[in-house]
Amino acid sequence: MKLSENFGILHIVPYTILPPWQLKESGVTSESAYWNRRHFLKSLVTVGIGASLIPLTGCNKSDKQLTALEATYKNLPSLKRLPTNPAFAKVDRPIADQAIASSYNNFYEYGGSKSIWPAAQALPTENWKVEVSGLVKNPKTYDLDDLKKFPLEERIYRFRCVEAWSMVLPWIGFPMRALIEAVEPTSAAKFVRFTSFYDPAITPGPGFHLGALPWPYTESLRLDEMANELAFFAVGIYGRELPKQHGAPIRAVLPWKYGFKGAKSIVKVEFVAEQPATYWHTLVANEYDYIANVNPKKPHPRWSQAREKFISTGPDLSWDWKETLPYNGYGEYVAKLYG
Ligand code: MTE
Repeated sequence: MKLSENFGILHIVPYTILPPWQLKESGVTSESAYWNRRHFLKSLVTVGIGASLIPLTGCNKSDKQLTALEATYKNLPSLKRLPTNPAFAKVDRPIADQAIASSYNNFYEYGGSKSIWPAAQALPTENWKVEVSGLVKNPKTYDLDDLKKFPLEERIYRFRCVEAWSMVLPWIGFPMRALIEAVEPTSAAKFVRFTSFYDPAITPGPGFHLGALPWPYTESLRLDEMANELAFFAVGIYGRELPKQHGAPIRAVLPWKYGFKGAKSIVKVEFVAEQPATYWHTLVANEYDYIANVNPKKPHPRWSQAREKFISTGPDLSWDWKETLPYNGYGEYVAKLYG
């Protein structure tokens, strides 16, 4: 059955509904379990992932595209042998196939479709610097080596996009609280603002304009949210450093909030006194609120949030319909912030 729906944040994308995929035990650790050429090839055919960027006229081209996708992360430095935090070692759903997760992304700096992974390879990650500044006692500009000195660990988190699709992803990184402890915000700091890399010569944007898009991409948290145990900076995924399409070399991961709160490719972290403007809220305030906690009872104007399309692995890029949980299932950690 074919379905045309308003699926992308700002797009109409045609999709094919496939039979529900039967849940299997997940392979949490082995790279070969994440990476399945057959799944990827089938997904290209089934939903046209990447087809808009590289026309597929035969198996060879699909194979080439697959090899190119694989190269976006197979050569990245390994972050294996890091401990998995036992509190976040498992969820009740399988981890997404890596080929799916790394070719089905939102990164509007590189385009408005889910197939931005080839375009995102233009992101220049060498000599990356993150300026941490504002209302802090110890401002500092961190390079990637500095960031990797924070206590890195793996966390398997649910990921829920406001567009009502979801996955489970194995991030590697460190709690945001560790950065708070290092830079020591002053008592005047009440919010944090994350700014993503932006250079119009490199980041073409989605190719459409709703007025002027408010680049650079910025997101924000209250300071108590940032200090929560769940709030995480990811520098890796699937046992390696982050591929560019996932927001290399450092991005925010906030599993109780909709995915758009997780700014990618962060260049600046500022501690501020007033609630800052954020990208999607500035663009369409009635669709993307500042807090953006996953809430099945609060429908988005274009998507009911009661259920979600859980995308995982399986013989094709198929999904299961699942009930959405308040705070994406993380209420025991964060509900107290909103009481
Ligand atoms: N960060 C930047 N800089 N630009 C973006 O377009 N998209 C957000 C978020 N972070 C976005 C971003 C949205 S809408 C989602 S759902 C997630 O990134 C997607 O993360 P993923 O592609 O790694 O799954």
